[in-house]
Amino acid sequence: MCGIIGICKHQGGKEKIGAIIRRALEKLEYRGYDSVGFAIVDRDGRVIVRKSKGKIADLYNKLRFDIYDGNIGFGHTRWATHGAPNDTNAHPHFDCSKCIVIVHNGIIQNYQELRDYIKKDRDHTIRSDTDTEIIAHLLEHYIDRGESTLNALRKATKIIKGTYAFLIINCREPDRIYFARNISPLIIGIGKESIAIASDLPAIVDLCDHYISIDDQELGYISLNEIYIEKFSGESINYRERLRKIEIDPLEISKGGFPHYMLKEIYEQPLAVKSSLDGIKDQIHDIIPLLAKADNIYIVGAGTSYHAALVLEYGFSNYAKINARSIVSSEYKKYLDIIGDRDVVIAISQSGETIDTILATRSMRDMGAKTIGLTNVISSTLDRESDYSIYTRAGPEIGVAATKTFTSQVAVGMYIVAETSRYSLGRPDPRIEDIYIELNRLPNYIANILDTIAGEVRTQTTFLKDTKSMYFLGRGSSLPVSMEGALKIKEISYIHAEAYPAGESKHGPIALVERGFPVFFTVFDDEYKEIILGNIEEMKARGAYITLVAPERYSSGFKLADKGYKMPTMKTVVASAAYVIVYQLLSYYLAISRGYDPDKPRNLAKTVTVE
Ligand code: M6R
Repeated sequence: MCGIIGICKHQGGKEKIGAIIRRALEKLEYRGYDSVGFAIVDRDGRVIVRKSKGKIADLYNKLRFDIYDGNIGFGHTRWATHGAPNDTNAHPHFDCSKCIVIVHNGIIQNYQELRDYIKKDRDHTIRSDTDTEIIAHLLEHYIDRGESTLNALRKATKIIKGTYAFLIINCREPDRIYFARNISPLIIGIGKESIAIASDLPAIVDLCDHYISIDDQELGYISLNEIYIEKFSGESINYRERLRKIEIDPLEISKGGFPHYMLKEIYEQPLAVKSSLDGIKDQIHDIIPLLAKADNIYIVGAGTSYHAALVLEYGFSNYAKINARSIVSSEYKKYLDIIGDRDVVIAISQSGETIDTILATRSMRDMGAKTIGLTNVISSTLDRESDYSIYTRAGPEIGVAATKTFTSQVAVGMYIVAETSRYSLGRPDPRIEDIYIELNRLPNYIANILDTIAGEVRTQTTFLKDTKSMYFLGRGSSLPVSMEGALKIKEISYIHAEAYPAGESKHGPIALVERGFPVFFTVFDDEYKEIILGNIEEMKARGAYITLVAPERYSSGFKLADKGYKMPTMKTVVASAAYVIVYQLLSYYLAISRGYDPDKPRNLAKTVTVE
């Protein structure tokens, strides 16, 4: 969480460095928007630091990014962990002399201990409540003892415990930005007019044409003329071997005429799913035999990616007939003892940087399992650390709410289920062949739903916008999409929403239902269609306001419902990736009608890089 960007720039050029940093920060803001700040070393070698609580768009006049120029500078958007979101805790932070300046993404676990350590010698002027500031003073501590900045950084990384991507400026070396990485992502970009260093590629895509990934436990520095990387162990790295072309089109990360990224990304789904399916065929030759022969398949993920894992669990158990279990990444420890070398782990993460998913995957690999990372970001940590990597090709997802990456994960996952099932069976089976047919049709199903229901959903949200709580119920394979619906509503529109298996109502939750309480039922074209009618009836008997998302020919259900969304006829195997569109739009329009920004939900960040 938190976004960082550093720039070393040639003198002159079209734009001032402050404007370049501001533009990059706007692209990183999805990683945190509690505060924003920057530091620039001007042409006279003075360090200018400006920072404030708030979002960039509200701070143009206060921080005046665009008037500042210099050779180097860096910026930060914050998702608060240590210390309240206020001006003082905003990054950058500095040492006592205000010469060593730092921005940081991550969490320093032993910052209290480090604080005590530096204070043994002399008092330090500590201005903020953050863990980050201590690192500036720790570097000062070593530099005061005659160490170079590089040596100070080497020494510091030996004793810092936690996750971090740091950028550091020492005003005595006004052309260098130092960095260190442990777990939190960091990449270096190379362009015609500048060298950049950032949390992710979208921040630098219009500045640079090539990039270099910095691996875990590496440090170094960049200047206009030099890039230096070494491992914490001291071994220096030939960065040229890691040089890759940036393939993202800058247009892909603009709003393209939509009012919000989230809405744009919802509408991109037919294309995202199609590109992901087109791209997957060549990536899976090695993993299919592995999956088909596995004793167990464990599928890990967090948030929306966990919901995709639930859909895959259903696919592997029902079609490939392999014991599959989905696991919430942060809960992995309780399963470690049962994982062995005949098992395969599929780790799903759109960003490839979610710390819980990375830790789960590492630990399961240590238990002997083979790991497959399914991400939307090439060169992400999960991609680099997994035994096998596969990618969705959804394009960059900027909105904090996962939309097109979910539908792409489900589509790609189901393709893998079909291939695994085909391999295991060793003969054609119409049920399996249907998966391929339905996956081919999926982009059209999604396009059709988008065309037909967006207006209806929008109208319904005006009626639902003051509601305090909702239930999302499904049975069997429709439960994950109900869970995804409830998550979207919570994170974007701030309405309490709970999903559970429809059969559980009588075991407790129905006690909350009274006249007008909204209950959403998701029903697929499968064996639960009839039994769920009883669940709808029992909710109706208590006065619930029923919305039904179901196949168009489910007339018995639509007769009972107060509001119905009729879905095109499709097989269950792809329904999660199509029906979810209703809930994505519902959460989006609810947020809008309640006056919230769906791209920047409070308390959330796009990538969760802390445990
Ligand atoms: O990048 P990942 O897929 O690993 O992210 C996992 C979750 O943090 C993410 O899906 C989160 O739940 C989204 N905000 C949901 O919309």
